This record gives sequence, C-alpha cells and structure tokens, in this order.
Amino acid sequence: MSKLALLGGAPMRDAKINPWPQWPVWDKKEETALLEVLNSGVWSYNGPKEMEFDKDFAKFTGVKYAISAANGTVTLQMALEACGVGVGDEVILPGLTWQATAATIIDVNATPILVDVCEDTWCIDPKAIEAAITPRTKAIMPVHLYGSFADMDEIMRIAKKHNLYVIEDCAHNHGGEWDGKKAGSIGDVGSFSFQLSKGLTAGEGGIVTTNNFELAERLDALRNCGRRPEGLSEEVDKGAGLYSDEGNFYQGGNFRITEFQAAILVEALKRLPEQNANRDANGMYLNTLFAEIPGVTQMRRDVKETKEAYFNFAFRYNKDEFIGLPVAKFREALSAEIGISATASYEPLNNCSLYVPHTKPSKHKLSETYWNEIDPARFNLPVCDKVYYEESVCIHHKVLMGTKADMDIVAASIQKIYDNAEELMV
Ligand SMILES: Cc1ncc(COP(=O)(O)O)c(C=O)c1O
Repeated sequence: MSKLALLGGAPMRDAKINPWPQWPVWDKKEETALLEVLNSGVWSYNGPKEMEFDKDFAKFTGVKYAISAANGTVTLQMALEACGVGVGDEVILPGLTWQATAATIIDVNATPILVDVCEDTWCIDPKAIEAAITPRTKAIMPVHLYGSFADMDEIMRIAKKHNLYVIEDCAHNHGGEWDGKKAGSIGDVGSFSFQLSKGLTAGEGGIVTTNNFELAERLDALRNCGRRPEGLSEEVDKGAGLYSDEGNFYQGGNFRITEFQAAILVEALKRLPEQNANRDANGMYLNTLFAEIPGVTQMRRDVKETKEAYFNFAFRYNKDEFIGLPVAKFREALSAEIGISATASYEPLNNCSLYVPHTKPSKHKLSETYWNEIDPARFNLPVCDKVYYEESVCIHHKVLMGTKADMDIVAASIQKIYDNAEELMV
C-alpha cells in the first residue's frame, strides 16, 4: 500500500473528519441585518446599508471616497472610464491575472498591453512597464495577486514620470498594506471584488476607492445611470459637484449593489482585521517552514509589505528537486493529502481560455488595426508561462484561517510528497 493519499494511503488531514475553517463566515449578525433589509422594503438604490458600508470601507482603506457596485469587473470598467481611458489609449497590465483585468480595457475600446511579471511575486514587473510605455499609454493597472503586492513605489514613480493613471486591481487584497498604506489607497483608483471566494465577500459585489473628488463624482455617476451623486460627500451635497440639475450629466449604467449585499459587507468588514491578522501570521509561519523543505519557495515579501491580505496562499514549486515530478502531479498529491484543492495560477492572458476578444467581432472589431492590437497572442510572457506551466501552487485563503498546527500539516504534507515522489513517477 502506498503511503501517499493520492495512491490510496492515509491523508495527512481527512477534511471530512477534520474540516478546514469554513468560508464564508457569518453568524446571527448577518441574519439580523438581512432580515432588517428584507422587512424595510429598501432593497437597493443608495440605501442606508450601502451608505454605511461605503463610509466604513473608505475609513478602513484610508481613502476619502469608496463607492460600492455590483462586482469587481464593473468596478474596473468604471475606474477606466472615470479616468477617461478609451479609444486610442493603451493600458499596461500584467499577463498573469483574471481575465476581467484585460477584458474591461477592451470594453472601453482601449488596448490592453500585456507585460510580464516578477518571478518571485507574480505581480507586474516595473521594468516591463517602462519598456512598454508609448505616447499612447494612459494608465497602468497593477494587480496585487493572491497574497503578493505589486511594487507600488516603482509603479507610482513610473506613473508620475510619464503622467499616467494608476488603477490598482485589489480584487485579491482587502486590507493589505504597502509601507503602512492600504491597497487601493496608493494609485488614483482602487478596485475590489467581493465575489464569494474573496477575503471579504457578499457572494458578489465590488467597490472603488479614491482620494480624488472629481474621480469619485464620475465613479458614482457611472454606477448609477449617470445621475448626480447623492451622499458622496458634503461637497457634493452642497452642490459643488460636476453634475447639476441644469444638465451636464454623465453617461452611466446600472452597476448598483443591493442592500442585501451591503448588509452582509457591513458585518463582514468588522471581522476582517482579525481574519487578516490570523491569515498573515499563519502565512508567515508557513513560509518559515518552507525554508526546511527542498523544492518549494515562498513568494517574496517586500520589506514594504507591512500587512499581507490573502486571496490564495501561493508558493513556487521546483520539479528538479522532486526528481522531475510535474507540478500538476504535485498539486494533485498535495490536494489529496490536505483535503483542499491546490491549484495552478491563472492562465497567462496571451493564451487563456477565458480571454478571447476575437470571438466578438461585432463588439471589438472597431478597425482592422484595433483588431490586430487586441490579439493577446502577440504578447510574449515567458515568466507568466513559467509560473503557470511549471511553478505555481495556490491554495484558498481559508487554509490560513486555522491554527499553527494546521500549517504544520500543510508543510508535513509537502515533505511527505517529497519523500515519496518516486511513487508518483510511474
Ligand atoms: C484580479 C481580479 N480582478 C478582477 C476580478 C473581477 O471580480 P468579480 O468576480 O467580482 O467581477 C477578479 C475576480 O476573480 C480578479 O481575480
């Protein structure tokens, strides 16, 4: 009988008997808040829960304005539109991210420029940004991926030098800090997702953050059919806004959040600091254990990353140390040992099954030139390829929500696969 769970041996953790912490987390407070919304009949449209959450999230993130919306895809689109990104513009983003980061750029008729990532953080490589800048570049969209931070010092330096907008895609980073500043408070706009798997969730949902009053006004109008913002700030309430009853409206859509989502988020945000602190401490502890195991390397944590917020716990695998065992087999074996899925990173966007702009000529074939520009296959992303095809191992953040003893199990499982790798080589 094999020792490895994948081959029929006993797992290191039987998740049926000893489950990992549940995600999402809720209790009576959510139940009460949801019933309150139900019974109020105010289920949407600038309701009290939405206003409360926007204020709370702005305070939590350390920004002046936070505006909730339906999800973290439309918030990216709103951010691009608010910054005036559109026809003729180029936006630089990492090739390793969820398809929405790029898809929203073509949705505003601009051109995504995919660049490579740093091999030790999997976040956008500032050198690749500089190399990709042209007179058409209008914005940079860094993504703080899984539990890593894009190098915001370098990105802000480059943006300042070339007069570019920075839209932080913080879909994975609710509460992480770079040099004491929260993700989403450093660039011009931060965009967050509250989809079910994220570290702060209402099932679906999103929010944009900014310190810029004019951007906030536009963002608010964009999510609410172009209407004049209400309750965004005292300045707007006093009528100092761009939008007046005399006209001067902004074209927008309905990207509003519901009161049910906002009610859950108000409660969930109260738990987030403690959850983040636990995930961060366990992540750091697990990374120290990695130092003792051959063939696995922790993601680099910059000294500037004063607090980490996780979507996934990710690490780098080196098959050469595991007698050539392919990473896919390693992930299968690890999933079987720990009873929770270990997955690959996102597919690089130059060859991604979910990022296929050429399937929609009726929307995206604005011209022959544009059609060629948005062909993702034209970009060369060797580091993204290496990460996806050879190195990446990602585990949902709930793995970090338990105890140090749980982290010991993850590390011991990797060691067990290392010790028995030859069994998987047949
Ligand atoms: C990096 C990144 N950006 C944007 C999004 C889009 O968020 P949503 O699913 O809320 O639309 C996601 C969702 O997974 C994401 O991972």
